[in-house]
Amino acid sequence: MPDIMAREGVHPETPPLPFTPGWDLVGVVDRLGNGISGIEPGQIVAALPIHGAYAEFVCLPQSELVPVPSGLDAAEAVSLVLNYITAYQMLHRSTTVRPGQRVLIHGAAGGVGTALLQLGRLAGLEMYGTCSSRSAPAVSDLEGIPIDYQHQDFVKEIRRLTSEGVDVVFDPIGGTHLWHSRKALRPGGKVVGYGLRSSLRGEGLSSSRPGRRQRFRGTALFGLYIAAGWLLPDRKRVVPYSIQTLKRLRPELFRQDLIALFDLLQQKKIEPLIAERFPISEARRAHELLGRGGVTGKIVLVRDGSSLESGVA
Ligand SMILES: NC(=O)c1ccc[n+]([C@@H]2O[C@H](COP(=O)([O-])OP(=O)(O)OC[C@H]3O[C@@H](n4cnc5c(N)ncnc54)[C@H](OP(=O)(O)O)[C@@H]3O)[C@@H](O)[C@H]2O)c1
Repeated sequence: MPDIMAREGVHPETPPLPFTPGWDLVGVVDRLGNGISGIEPGQIVAALPIHGAYAEFVCLPQSELVPVPSGLDAAEAVSLVLNYITAYQMLHRSTTVRPGQRVLIHGAAGGVGTALLQLGRLAGLEMYGTCSSRSAPAVSDLEGIPIDYQHQDFVKEIRRLTSEGVDVVFDPIGGTHLWHSRKALRPGGKVVGYGLRSSLRGEGLSSSRPGRRQRFRGTALFGLYIAAGWLLPDRKRVVPYSIQTLKRLRPELFRQDLIALFDLLQQKKIEPLIAERFPISEARRAHELLGRGGVTGKIVLVRDGSSLESGVA
């Protein structure tokens, strides 16, 4: 989804045009710059360049690369770099969840949503997830209680199911949706806001242009809700999460958390859901599919010419 938001110019990290999209990658080291050691050509590495990952070759500083343990499927490994790190850091760094706590996950069938469900299950959480009715079985399979966001009021549903509300809401929708999420909290709870999905309408297109205006409105509302969280007496907080900001401020956490996630993948404690694998030359089709919705998990683009089952994503 961040690739679509960058394409539409509504993501704050959108570079000036023209640019090559692609937030996250797993690839093979082709060549080393002068004086580089500790890494070998042929080694499989992961990175979060934010843009440029759709290219066949990308030039990155060594500090950006995290070695991928051997034997992992490249499509599963690349799912960890953006979606699982986002989920993991929101669960354990934006807040510190404890077993038995209740959480509401919006967009629960999506890439980040399914990662939150899998990591939330490992953390022993009671989980509720908004999704469309076609995605409800996938959410139930991951032990989330589905709430149909197209036909139900999620605040009323949460009140009906839990009476006092949830401890944490993870909200990628943004805008005024953050305020509704806040209503689903118990006193002292927290909304972790991490996206501006509300800037997009159907088919993944921006609801108006230019994207900068959307971004400004979303950011201003966010600021207002954060301030309200501190001023109102119910102690319900709204906090922002941004993978790129945390990575810039604390790059060691990104590395440490990705290594922890590779470890969980090796132990088969997590199993990223791959909705589909497309050759990179069909990136447009992948965007169209994601924009239409109803995709469960992550769509992975695979380098043209490599095997779609085991190729580098
Ligand atoms: N802040 C960060 O660091 C960070 C990092 C990664 C991602 N993100 C953001 O996280 C968001 C999700 O990314 P993703 O890759 O997981 O996207 P995704 O795979 O496309 O999933 C989005 C999900 O949201 C659901 N959805 C759409 N509108 C909804 C609504 N009003 N209420 C509840 N669910 C709704 C969709 O369900 P249906 O298709 O069934 O309708 C879909 O399952 C994006 O906004 C992205 O920019 C932020």
